[in-house]
Amino acid sequence: MSAAQTGIPLTVLVIGSGGREHALALAISHDPTVAAVHIAPGNPGTTAIGTNHPVDICDPDAVAALAIQIGANLVVVGPEAPLVAGVADAVRAAGIACFGPSAAAAQLEGSKAFAKQVMAEAGVPTAGHRVCHDQQELAAAFDEFGAPYVVKHDGLAAGKGVLVTNDRDAALAHGAGADQVVVEEYLDGPEASLFVITDGINALALQPAQDFKRVGDGDEGPNTGGMGAYSPLPWLVPGTVDEVMTSVVAPTLARMRDLGTPFAGLLYVGLAITSRGPKVVEFNARFGDPETEALLPLLRSPLGQVLYAAATGELAKIGPLEFDDQAAVCVVLAAEGYPASPRKGGRIVLPADDDQVHVIHAGTAFDENGHLIANGGRVLVVVGTGPRLADARTAVYGRIAEIDFPDGFCRSDIAAQVI
Ligand code: AMP
Ligand code: GLY
Repeated sequence: MSAAQTGIPLTVLVIGSGGREHALALAISHDPTVAAVHIAPGNPGTTAIGTNHPVDICDPDAVAALAIQIGANLVVVGPEAPLVAGVADAVRAAGIACFGPSAAAAQLEGSKAFAKQVMAEAGVPTAGHRVCHDQQELAAAFDEFGAPYVVKHDGLAAGKGVLVTNDRDAALAHGAGADQVVVEEYLDGPEASLFVITDGINALALQPAQDFKRVGDGDEGPNTGGMGAYSPLPWLVPGTVDEVMTSVVAPTLARMRDLGTPFAGLLYVGLAITSRGPKVVEFNARFGDPETEALLPLLRSPLGQVLYAAATGELAKIGPLEFDDQAAVCVVLAAEGYPASPRKGGRIVLPADDDQVHVIHAGTAFDENGHLIANGGRVLVVVGTGPRLADARTAVYGRIAEIDFPDGFCRSDIAAQVI
């Protein structure tokens, strides 16, 4: 479907302030049918794209009021917390199209136990699991599945709720004190992220990407929100996306409809590609970060129109999503101390963007003198494209060497192995 077919000039409000929201706002602004982009609260990077507005993103009424005030006809909710808080419901109740699931449907991310239950009911291939409420149940689950132990806090934990370890005492300690944890069978194999845009019935897959979750080179150290990503995945067996759409996405969407909580928005399917085929590691209810930063520069389809179609139940009118025949790599620059205790306030000086490499702001702010400073754990995401992954990777690391951010660090091995 072309913009001309819908004929709707879009005024889009993107909710959130991280790298994902900067990347979404940027890609949406490239859609010729988008008249204006607003970001709330946004960050220093998004000021170059549209208008930033302060708002409490987890206050559904405040977000709906802002959308009305600026005349938005599409709201795109970036992070999971406002979705779980019911922001999409409030925006829709105000009569404005919203890309993002209802609070009830966002439980696919908001509760690990709920997600596992839906997967089981839908016959989706995933790790075996037990929901545990005390030390005894934990120990029994560890005995059943063996090491490595996978222990997940049930609720939202900003990437810190999951521990995968061979250390049984550490696994027990991670589970202790939580009301409800999920213990899972360990899934072996490379991971892939598949993002699916859906209106609850129809679904369109983006190109798969891979994320690097551990903080250190060689996948050492604690889990983070993600330290880098690349796309496409040359090692992924052709047909995997179709297989996942059939074995995972279609039955999950059907089950959510049957439950009376249809899932419309972005279904993030985190996969382990095991020797017995792709299995679901997790569902998220929103675009992944930093995979989104790598994927969107390759997307040719007009993102505003696609998200609007999904938000209005009209996704059937959109053809398959089109991607450039190029590769993209992105690398996160994090603040020293991330993920445990990132140091804020470090000064940053950025070189100019060009056609091949651009810098996305994830956790930055301006200080009182107008200097750019670090203001979060993941601070910048450097994104490069090129004919091949190797070209994109070389360009990204070349640009990182030119960034003046003494307090920052990054992984040096993003997309190295695949090349
Ligand atoms: P989650 O928040 O559920 O995605 O888990 C965070 C990370 O922990 C995943 O990206 C995986 O790297 C790892 N993980 C989660 N579940 C499993 C599992 N069942 N087997 C192996 N690794 C897992
Ligand atoms: N990149 C992992 C996530 O967004 O959860």
